[in-house]
Amino acid sequence: MEETVQVLEKVPIINFSHLHHDSVTKQIHEACRNFGFFHVMNHGISDSVIEEALNVNSNFFGLPMAMKEEFNSDDIQKPVRFSRLQIGCHENEMLSRDFLKLYAHPLHQFVNLWPSNPLNYREKMGIYATEVRKLGIELFGAIMESLNLSPTYLKQIFEQGMQVIGINSYPPCLGSSVKTGIAEHTDHSIITILLQSSPGLHIMDRSDGTWKSIRKIKGSLEVIVGDHLETISNGLYKSVLHRAIPSSNNCTRLTIANLHSLGMDDIVEPAAKLVDEEHPKGYRGSSLRDYLGHLSSKDATPFNHKIKI
Ligand code: OGA
Ligand code: NI
Repeated sequence: MEETVQVLEKVPIINFSHLHHDSVTKQIHEACRNFGFFHVMNHGISDSVIEEALNVNSNFFGLPMAMKEEFNSDDIQKPVRFSRLQIGCHENEMLSRDFLKLYAHPLHQFVNLWPSNPLNYREKMGIYATEVRKLGIELFGAIMESLNLSPTYLKQIFEQGMQVIGINSYPPCLGSSVKTGIAEHTDHSIITILLQSSPGLHIMDRSDGTWKSIRKIKGSLEVIVGDHLETISNGLYKSVLHRAIPSSNNCTRLTIANLHSLGMDDIVEPAAKLVDEEHPKGYRGSSLRDYLGHLSSKDATPFNHKIKI
């Protein structure tokens, strides 16, 4: 029997145009602390930029498999990689999705490796990636401020950091025993900025330990606290367990996740200001490369457990 999942009613909605106002900083603090998640509105990325990003990806995933498989690889360190994944189980069913990963920063270093079919793919996704990156940098500063750190804490390193775009396509039906979706996980990033074409995202509600579905709010983007923000905050902001179980209607659900991290070999540590006798250092230093190494090792322990002291 399908489990019934309630809607999470009290999800914070952050008004980006009022970032750095005290009340919004407080709202970000509460959101990251209590949910590991928030919506962001008035983020400045235009509807047309968003629509075109979704469109070119929809066209890419609509290509014959042979053309997408050109980007297929077992090497998870590849800057561009396509795969049809079958990972994890949900109610004894396999969960599957089509997945395209793109490294996106610095853009000029990677954009020529991105798909060139459809023809406008690089242009439209390049614009979206650049705009989301600006948003990510602003949000990062506001989140640091919400931790009572300087809004410029790690700013320069974050600005030089990695941006990995994960594009997920969830077709309505892949076969009788296979459902589409993404199994529960936390993101390894500092923050992930998620764009959804339709609802389907669930997060674990810490207040009662049950799954809740997230409404799709028109014009909003979703912000997910990742493992490396948990590290920086010394455990004050926990990365949020989430999954996607799109409803089985006739539409393909498309999501674009922008994962923002420090550089590949930058070591992420708890902020010194958040470590004291009462709050001892709870996390080992780790880099994005450490995470990728962990992922290739097939060690089933989640990365965020590995880095806890
Ligand atoms: C992800 C992710 C959720 C979704 O790509 O890490 O959690 O709704 N995606 O596709
Ligand atoms: Ni995720």
